[in-house]
Amino acid sequence: MRLVILGATGQVGWQLVQQAPSGVEVIPIARQGTAVTLDLEDLEAIPKVLKTLQPDVVINAAAYTAVDQAEQEPERAQRINGTAVGLLAETLATVGGLLIHYSTDYVFAGHQSRPYRETDATAPLNAYGYSKWLGEQAIATHHPAHLILRTSWIYDLRGKNFLRTMVRLAQTRPLVRVVADQIGTPTAAPFIAQVTYQLLERWQADSSLRGLYHLTPRGSTSWYGFAAKIFDHLRARGYATATLEAIPSSEYPTPARRPAFSTLNCEKLEAVLGTPLPPWEAVLEPLLDQLDPQSVL
Ligand SMILES: NC(=O)c1ccc[n+]([C@@H]2O[C@H](COP(=O)([O-])OP(=O)(O)OC[C@H]3O[C@@H](n4cnc5c(N)ncnc54)[C@H](OP(=O)(O)O)[C@@H]3O)[C@@H](O)[C@H]2O)c1
Repeated sequence: MRLVILGATGQVGWQLVQQAPSGVEVIPIARQGTAVTLDLEDLEAIPKVLKTLQPDVVINAAAYTAVDQAEQEPERAQRINGTAVGLLAETLATVGGLLIHYSTDYVFAGHQSRPYRETDATAPLNAYGYSKWLGEQAIATHHPAHLILRTSWIYDLRGKNFLRTMVRLAQTRPLVRVVADQIGTPTAAPFIAQVTYQLLERWQADSSLRGLYHLTPRGSTSWYGFAAKIFDHLRARGYATATLEAIPSSEYPTPARRPAFSTLNCEKLEAVLGTPLPPWEAVLEPLLDQLDPQSVL
């Protein structure tokens, strides 16, 4: 199997490269630093690269992910997350091959109080969410052989993410104020890669597997609740000197509006995997155990 991984330097892309199953020919692609490079803004290059490589599977972990910045440049977000993704799908429809693509909980407005199912209505509140919704639509329109995996609140020990920000602030600030009225599910990049490969294995056994799936661990919390878990871990080891305070979103204004509740119901994925997904805390804890708090300073 020839597997192309786009966004190979991002949080999820990097883990996909690290965890790639043996016996698979992996072609990691990033904007720079890889043997084959691709900028998704170069729309003409997308079909050229894919037609040359003739992959069996493409996992697209590349995206415009700067949620607040997208409010200033919505067209660019749409070009990368919508138009380019549509071209990936159209090209694979002619070349053949499965497209695995990641989307986001931010396609939802967040007015529900029960976890969102794949069949629930989308209504993105911000430019990033809208651009990712466009990508989902383009794939569904152009290429039936796809797996779209919506996930949320991605973190890892590397990259730019909430976990690393909290670990740094806990050691450098007297007070850290974190919003407590946005509810969702923290999801580790290594976990996403692991589950993606489990799904790919299922697809190899039955290539009729396709469609939209929600992919997070079980349970939910607020950003404050997520921070509290990180702080507890650090305090127990003598690292957190800051006080952690819960605040409402109104006290932390951001350019992009975010859903108040965006927990995803992952029962459809659990049914395919034949096993329950772990609680988010059980995914976080082993990662925290590997953390050197001073490495983020
Ligand atoms: N982060 C989250 O909390 C979150 C939540 C829900 C869903 N998702 C989705 O999950 C997927 C993976 O997210 P992530 O957190 O791993 O993202 P990430 O760490 O921000 O990585 C995104 C990758 O996309 C690449 N990229 C950006 N613009 C590109 C372009 N024009 N051409 C080629 N590559 C480009 C970046 O390359 P450079 O390194 O060169 O910039 C980077 O390697 C994305 O589809 C994202 O929308 C993310």
